[in-house]
Amino acid sequence: MSGKEMDKTLVLIKPDALKNSLTGYVLSILSEFHTGLCFAATKIVQVNRILADEHYAEHRGKVFFDPLIEYIMGQSHYPKEPNKQRVIAIVYLGADAVKKVRDIAGPTNPHVAREQKPGCVRALGTIVPLKNAADEVVGTRMDNLIHASATDEEAEREIKLWFKPNDIPPFLRSYPVKQSDLHYYYKGKKLFTSHEPGSICLLAPGDLAWESDLDTLQGIKNGKPGAQSLESVAAKYLINEIREV
Ligand code: CDP
Ligand code: MG
Repeated sequence: MSGKEMDKTLVLIKPDALKNSLTGYVLSILSEFHTGLCFAATKIVQVNRILADEHYAEHRGKVFFDPLIEYIMGQSHYPKEPNKQRVIAIVYLGADAVKKVRDIAGPTNPHVAREQKPGCVRALGTIVPLKNAADEVVGTRMDNLIHASATDEEAEREIKLWFKPNDIPPFLRSYPVKQSDLHYYYKGKKLFTSHEPGSICLLAPGDLAWESDLDTLQGIKNGKPGAQSLESVAAKYLINEIREV
């Protein structure tokens, strides 16, 4: 496989889809038979705040940001059942992966989706009124069942955020990888190259990492941080961790 056949996209089956038992439906409508795309990777994730915040970084500061973070963390749909606060993250691979999946997902707003594209996945979503302490409606949140990367650039950023290279079979990866020469540890939003009590080891010598992530870590270590944040690298190593770092 090469070129366009290696196009990739990230899909998240969000907590409202899990709660409403639409997982099978989504997997079915995104099957290789329907889309011509193949599964490259998948994982079940209890989304922590760092990952949620990085995934939706472009929406920081917007009125729907905090409710959106609660939604993707599963807190809105399973407030009292942390064990059910999950999303299913999937990488699909194949020609025009981004466009094909966005077409099947449909418009962001479920009401618009129902009007403009009946039958798309998001037409089954809902718009939830958000209330303040006085029970007044202060905004809305769009519960639209799945996330789908909007562009190839977004897909690359998101796939590298949710998946380590080793989560994807070697022949299905297309982003450059590199072996780490050093130990990298993370604690309290800081990077260390030797062990600190309570820190988490992101990488050890010989571990495979996305090349762009290693460049970011090296830049931060040398006091020359680039555009990519430390959290955007650390997030995937904190997936399904129970430790607070
Ligand atoms: O998911 P998509 O790329 O289609 O839309 P987005 O503009 O990147 O927004 C990300 C997510 O935020 C949406 O899928 C909605 O769940 C949520 N959202 C919302 O609740 N209210 C809005 N006005 C816009 C987006
Ligand atoms: Mg988007």
